[in-house]
Amino acid sequence: MDAIYIGWLGLMIGFVLWCWNECWYVIPLKFKCLKSATKLPPGHMGLPFIGETIRFLWYFKIVRRPDDFINVKRRKYGDGVGMFRTHLFGAPSIIVYTPTVNKFVLFSDDKFKQECPTVELMGRTSLGSVHGKAHTRARNFVTNAINRPDALSRIATLVQPRIVNALQSWAQIGKIKAKFETQKLSFENIGKLFMGKEPGPFLNSLDKLYQGLLPGVRAYPLNIPGFAYHHALQCRRKLEDIFWMELEKRKAENKVETSDLMDGLMQIEDGEGDKLSDKEVVDNIVSLVAAGYIPTSLASTWAIYLLAKYPIVLTKLREENIAFTKGSLGDLITAKDVLNLKYTNKVVDEVIRMANVAAFVFRKAANEVDYKGYKIPKGWNVIVLLRYLHTDPENFKDPMYFNPDRWNEPAMSGTYQVFGAGQRLCPGNMLARIQLALLLHHLSIGYKWELINPNADIVYLSHPAPVDGVEVKFSRL
Ligand code: HEM
Repeated sequence: MDAIYIGWLGLMIGFVLWCWNECWYVIPLKFKCLKSATKLPPGHMGLPFIGETIRFLWYFKIVRRPDDFINVKRRKYGDGVGMFRTHLFGAPSIIVYTPTVNKFVLFSDDKFKQECPTVELMGRTSLGSVHGKAHTRARNFVTNAINRPDALSRIATLVQPRIVNALQSWAQIGKIKAKFETQKLSFENIGKLFMGKEPGPFLNSLDKLYQGLLPGVRAYPLNIPGFAYHHALQCRRKLEDIFWMELEKRKAENKVETSDLMDGLMQIEDGEGDKLSDKEVVDNIVSLVAAGYIPTSLASTWAIYLLAKYPIVLTKLREENIAFTKGSLGDLITAKDVLNLKYTNKVVDEVIRMANVAAFVFRKAANEVDYKGYKIPKGWNVIVLLRYLHTDPENFKDPMYFNPDRWNEPAMSGTYQVFGAGQRLCPGNMLARIQLALLLHHLSIGYKWELINPNADIVYLSHPAPVDGVEVKFSRL
């Protein structure tokens, strides 16, 4: 008998706990909604404090089917308006996942603020941290410095010797972990493009500091020794010191030519002759390296993985690139040449679609927002699932199939948001795309490779990648 009572008690406690978050957040809002025509999006707030975090981790980390996190909700609640309520990462949240609603959120900077709890790590005046007019101003400076008319041709010239050298050394080693090697290559390229530095002890120590900084960006901001955020803050301070010294050195030299992004940020003026302050230059250069480093290297890792899995695509890529250069290994091509490599550019688009390096981005509702009869309460997080756009069969036919030829036709409006959209669209998108195209060119004309663990599982947190880091046997063609 006792066992039955205990069982019932357990069930009741479980039920109360399960309902608790739902009551806590939703019932007061439902009363408010009675007075208006709007209602909360469908969904469930999950358990007290942790909300649906376990469910999220279940799909992203344990069963490794991240899209089922939404598929299951779609089956349960129907499609409604393309958003669900939930409680994730310690806060009540709305998840949005369709082209139209994503667009609405990403293009409404006044309604949804980009708010990063770890803003100290990126710098208070960096592009990703500022808002409103300050954001528009910083964005003009940064995008102009990156996309100056001569920038892409300079990038092509600067990164290729590094790509050629890296590929040669991979072939000499014979067996590599692509994730590790592309990370090294990506940092060397960024070192050259952003700071004019050659590979060596200086870049290695900088790399180590970034390896300490980046895990802190997604960590809980606890500034206590032993926590990732605390270590990240220390790395940030050291990076800041290094860039301040570099800035002072450059100012003393009184350089007029622009040889890297840091020069660009120091020199660029707006229409009124206004320049970035020294602090803005330092904050932006620290954060641009951080923002550009891992996504570019992960996209390269995925290119190597997907081309090994789909030899037909590699053959077509190789044919185009060999025909273009007559197969002369190590010869450099120009940024203009890259535009003419039509199939290669489709491979770039398709790799970045499937890599889903930025699975989601966050916003916070600045005020209560009504969208087509649904309410997004003030202060709630809005999680824009970019990844889901690219893996939803409604947007891309046979989405898990690596098929660059799908890009013979443009994607349906709003379905391709690998670089985000709206006011915060990634300013490094051209830079990332051209680097990937150049890597594909040199890889395809001169090398062959084979996956050592073709059935390796994919991990999705913190970034998607095959679990073995893409181990390959790598050699000259
Ligand atoms: C394949 C490579 C890349 C991917 C997939 C990617 C993805 C993204 C996405 C999705 C956003 C939007 C974030 C949001 O809306 O909150 C973004 C923003 C940003 N990205 Fe990238 N990125 C890549 C490469 C780069 C590179 C190379 C740089 C460096 C120049 C860079 C610098 C930035 C910055 C500074 C922002 C913030 C922009 C703002 O707040 O206005 N990214 N990126």
